[in-house]
Amino acid sequence: MTMMKTLKLTAAAVALTASTAVAEDVEVLHWWTSGGEAAALNVLKDDLAGNDIGWQDMPVAGGGGGNAMTVLRARVTSGNAPTAVQMLGFDIQDWAAEGALANLNALAEEQKWNDVIPAAIQRFSTNDGAWVAAPVNVHSTNWVWANKALMDELGLEQPQSWDELVAAMEAAEAAGYTALAHGGQAWQDATIFDAVAMATGGPEFYQAAFVDLDEEALGSDTMKEAFDRMATLRGFVDDNFSGRDWNLATAMVINGEALFQMMGDWAKGEFLNAGKVPGQDFACFRFPGTQDQVTFNSDQFAMFKQGDMVSGEQSYLAESILSPTFQIAFNKVKGSVPARTDLDASELDACGQQGYEDFKAAAASGNLYGSMAHGHANPAAVKNAMYDVITAHFNGEYDSAAAVEELVTAVQINK
Ligand code: BGC
Repeated sequence: MTMMKTLKLTAAAVALTASTAVAEDVEVLHWWTSGGEAAALNVLKDDLAGNDIGWQDMPVAGGGGGNAMTVLRARVTSGNAPTAVQMLGFDIQDWAAEGALANLNALAEEQKWNDVIPAAIQRFSTNDGAWVAAPVNVHSTNWVWANKALMDELGLEQPQSWDELVAAMEAAEAAGYTALAHGGQAWQDATIFDAVAMATGGPEFYQAAFVDLDEEALGSDTMKEAFDRMATLRGFVDDNFSGRDWNLATAMVINGEALFQMMGDWAKGEFLNAGKVPGQDFACFRFPGTQDQVTFNSDQFAMFKQGDMVSGEQSYLAESILSPTFQIAFNKVKGSVPARTDLDASELDACGQQGYEDFKAAAASGNLYGSMAHGHANPAAVKNAMYDVITAHFNGEYDSAAAVEELVTAVQINK
């Protein structure tokens, strides 16, 4: 790709490349296996190919990355860590604390990452003063994706409140459509819960419950109301939702079978991959009641130590990822927005431009909240414990009052 040809190896990368005897392939472990995700990943592959760096693909299917993290643990335990790994939030911190990640400070200083990556993202890219991961993007989970033709057919405006959201889904159901396209997998249930909890209790509640793990917030009536709303949403999914992959749920909205999907903006990558145009074929809007907040997650590439120093290939990969051209080219396809806040976003589509403005505004005003569902609010043990409760409730094992109690206990045991 021409973009890569213009990217110059920095002095730091050249020095590091020189320190490695032979140029090696990068082996990249990731969970980008849907159509839209694979298209975005190709931007990175082409980028490296343009600079004669080979790519060994290590895809591990499973949205949200749970399966990928299990495979990663096995690889590292057997002494065979991949070169680079797609990773989220607290997982990066856990691996850094184990001393497994290469230090990218030389490159970060030279390229002034400090000046262009907001603190809320750096909080996960750095550990103990060292840059240990290169942020590729910023996604956010509090979005609703809608089929535009169905909205028009049903005479629906963009819902501004919970009640309007429910009314829109009732209208879709009454007309014989699936109101809410969803896949019954724990991480997907939790993704909806991010937005529902934020909308129900507001940012202070979200922060107290999911980030500070405050017992009072976890056990509150507000939390019970959030679970009640999840039960309401459960009533709008179709009978075959159990186990369905997220991108198949997106396809239901793309095909006009379903009105809405509540999902992170990786869903937009599927619409784009299907040739759909925002504003024309589909609509994107913030989950009603969360218009001023962004519940974010950032895909980052952590480089596993291969020797004493970061390898030239790793350094080059990190440099490419942070380059302005790559950040725009990749995120245009992926559905996310750049992790750097200093870029011209005019090439992004309407949803992307809104997402980038929302992200920058939320970063500046302190309204950027780490996604619980995607590992940016609390460590994996707590996150997984929360998943279990949210999913059991979604599937009717607990009523809302019992779910609240279970949530408090699960957090107590796992924090
Ligand atoms: C990642 C996205 C990915 C999504 C579904 C999220 O955790 O951040 O990049 O597209 O999972 O697999």
